[in-house]
Amino acid sequence: MNNLPTITILGAGYVGLTTGSILAQAGYQTYLIEPNQKRLATIKSGRSFFFEDGLDTLIEKGLKTKMLLPTDSYAHSIPQSDIIFSCVGTPDNPDGSPNLEYVFEAAKTALQYLKPKAIYVQKSTVPVGTGNRLIDIFAKSGLKVDYLSNPEFLREGTAIADTLYPDRIIIGGDSSAAISTLTDLYRRVELNRQAIAELSGIANQAKVCRYISTELSSAELIKVTANAFLAMKISFANSIAILSDQVDADVVEIMDGIGLDPRIGTAFLRAGRGYGGGCFPKDVSGLVSSAQDHGVELKLMRSTQEINAKMPGYIIDKLKTRLTTLKNKQIIILGLSFKAGTSDTRMSPGIALANICAKNQASITVFDPIVNREDLDQLDTSTRIVDSISELPANPDAIIIATEWPEFCNFTPTQIINLLGKEGILVDAINAYNPKSLAQYDIRYIGVGRRS
Ligand SMILES: NC(=O)c1ccc[n+]([C@@H]2O[C@H](COP(=O)([O-])OP(=O)(O)OC[C@H]3O[C@@H](n4cnc5c(N)ncnc54)[C@H](O)[C@@H]3O)[C@@H](O)[C@H]2O)c1
Repeated sequence: MNNLPTITILGAGYVGLTTGSILAQAGYQTYLIEPNQKRLATIKSGRSFFFEDGLDTLIEKGLKTKMLLPTDSYAHSIPQSDIIFSCVGTPDNPDGSPNLEYVFEAAKTALQYLKPKAIYVQKSTVPVGTGNRLIDIFAKSGLKVDYLSNPEFLREGTAIADTLYPDRIIIGGDSSAAISTLTDLYRRVELNRQAIAELSGIANQAKVCRYISTELSSAELIKVTANAFLAMKISFANSIAILSDQVDADVVEIMDGIGLDPRIGTAFLRAGRGYGGGCFPKDVSGLVSSAQDHGVELKLMRSTQEINAKMPGYIIDKLKTRLTTLKNKQIIILGLSFKAGTSDTRMSPGIALANICAKNQASITVFDPIVNREDLDQLDTSTRIVDSISELPANPDAIIIATEWPEFCNFTPTQIINLLGKEGILVDAINAYNPKSLAQYDIRYIGVGRRS
């Protein structure tokens, strides 16, 4: 034992498990509360229930040293804890507003066991105003609790590196003592980050982190605004891609051309099948809906959503134009996680593409190098799932590349020709290939906003 604050993390998902595993390595006794028994059992066995490079090693070491303590018991962990991190999920409701059921349930349960002067840190992405509602609940209990908003910016696929080497730590709230305690915690992570990076097998970085303390409402808005802005960049690139298709321009050339202006930058300007995942879609709809609650119409964000929603259908329409009909056509989808580096299939564009093809009565085969079959329940039931590239059917009518896994972006022309067989078309839904190079090999190609 040491005299550092004891931590409890509520929710051992992508954010909670990553954060908890790193805090345990930085020397903090860290309880990890997870009510999902299947997930809890996997974590207790020393593994993550999702794929994240380097994470299993940290979990294993945390369990061995007893610094990481997975549990489903609030009663056991919260009374001993000085800092509580709420990392529960905030999925969206059918109307697009954020579902805060888990956020309030976790806070109310924790409140029954909190010790006086505990610090309650909100890492879940919540709509502006949620913190004040929780502060009211804590105040009514008569217990002195300091509430802080500390939005999480990690990205699945690089979660450990993002947590060890963040660009910024945002802390919103009124208590300067609590802000200072939380800042100390992150400074300690910074001090230990090289050793943690080495242990998890990720590269050390020389990055300077900025600590920014803000109003509570600003911190809540910074997170969703950041994701909404990135989503908007993707939809912007896609709207120019649709124009490019009409005028024989190449959207990749255009985005490279504008991205060199440092005021614009190249990031998040890749046109293609649009964004997915557990964050962008729900954060954009959450921002739209909470703005509406305050009488503000965010038209720009609504357009961002509309453009994004139509991209999978737009790509399949391009394929239909070539094949006339998809009925009984043999179509392969490569990549079902919403992006490379993760097994997360929430709002996966690859699944959306597969399901549109299935609706058109095509015969679909899918392959992803990491995604578990049990995470594919949103796929149309007619879909055939295979476990390796060698099991893909020969001579398909089309292969659609939907996720930027390196193995799908680095095929040689010969490999593409072998996979496509006689008449197949390569549908590059992520614009990974150069159509001019493929044309030299007579490879039939459809990109997004590129001549083909
Ligand atoms: N996944 C990301 O890349 C990412 C990045 C930044 C921010 N966020 C935000 O962080 C939050 C968590 O996201 P996630 O992807 O880790 O979610 P997740 O769904 O992977 O994990 C949430 C976990 O909370 C558990 N849980 C539910 N109710 C609980 C309760 N009452 N007490 C304790 N645990 C409970 C669930 O069983 C689940 O395992 C969300 O608000 C999300 O928007 C996520």
